[in-house]
Parts: sequence; structure tokens; C-alpha cells
Amino acid sequence: MAFELPALPFANDALEPYTSARTLEFHHGKHHAAYVTNLNNLVKDTPLASLSLEDVIKAAAADLPAKQGIFNNAAQVWNHTFFWNCLKKDGGQPSAKLLARIDAELGGLAKFKEDFKAAAIGQFGSGWAWLVEENGKLKIVKTANADLPLVHGQKALFTVDVWEHAYYLDYQNRRPDFVQTVLDHLVNWAFVESNLG
Ligand SMILES: [Fe+2]
Repeated sequence: MAFELPALPFANDALEPYTSARTLEFHHGKHHAAYVTNLNNLVKDTPLASLSLEDVIKAAAADLPAKQGIFNNAAQVWNHTFFWNCLKKDGGQPSAKLLARIDAELGGLAKFKEDFKAAAIGQFGSGWAWLVEENGKLKIVKTANADLPLVHGQKALFTVDVWEHAYYLDYQNRRPDFVQTVLDHLVNWAFVESNLG
């Protein structure tokens, strides 16, 4: 069965004014969709076509650079689906339990935002900033292009897409403003917590 583009978990205009409907029309409807189409074309009539998306990613990662194209597209399908679920307008605050871990392991919510933003800004070129759990500890990391925590022994809890297509229509070159806005207004904290091991 072919891989499919999942519907957004919200309406295209649900994140306005922080992310416009137009951005989501392109980001989900064109960019995310294209990764799905590319992936299906690349794995068609191969053993990978019957695997789960996660298993395609792992198999491709184990066979680089031969399977770089498959890895890139499969990972980008996964990354975007995960990213949409990370977003919710006025998505609340971390629960007391999660906040206690952020306090103990990341120096508090303000420090988390500061360090996450620094990682997102510090990613040269296209990529992703992540909150992950590694060996039972919270950690902020960044990845280039399509790379993702799954292939680094980490569990993804939250991400922000810092490819230019994620913010250029609304923020032009101002990646720091985009990331700050996501952190202040669009984090789906219940989803973040649901990813904890
Ligand atoms: Fe993207």
C-alpha cells in the first residue's frame, strides 16, 4: 500500500495569525505532499514499499549513501507529520509533571525556550530543532536537512521545522521571530508530553 499524506490535524487557518493559511497550503499541500509522492515513486516495486514509514527510514539510514533519496523523502514525510502534531494555537502550558522535568533537566521553561531557539537559529541552512529524550534525559538537538532523532537513538518529543519554506511567506528571513512565535503560541504541550517514554 502506498504511503499517504495525512490530513492536517487542524484547519489551514487554525494557526493564524502566527502561521498563515497560505503557508500551510504550501507547506502541507505542496511540500509535505511532494515528499509523499517522491517516496512512493522511489520505493515502488521494491521490498521497502511494504514496510512501515519508520522501518523505511531505518533501512534507508543503514544503506547510505545508496538510499539517500529514499531516506530524505521518508524522513521528511515523518518529520512533517510529527511537526503538525506538535502545533496547536494557544496550546497551553506543560503539565506540572513535565514542567518538573524541564526545570530539573533543562534549567526551566525560559531556559528551554532560549536554548531551543538558539539551536533553531544555529542550524545552518535547512533542518529541524528538536526536544528529544535520550537515555531517559531531555535534550535539545538540531538536525540538518531531513535527519531526525529516530536514527540517533533518541525519542522525538517536539520539533520546529526551520526550512525556509516553513516561515518565508509569513516571516521572510526572520527565522528567530518564527521560532519565538512557535515557542510562545503554538506548542501543543499535551502532544509533547504524550511522546514521553
Ligand atoms: Fe517543511
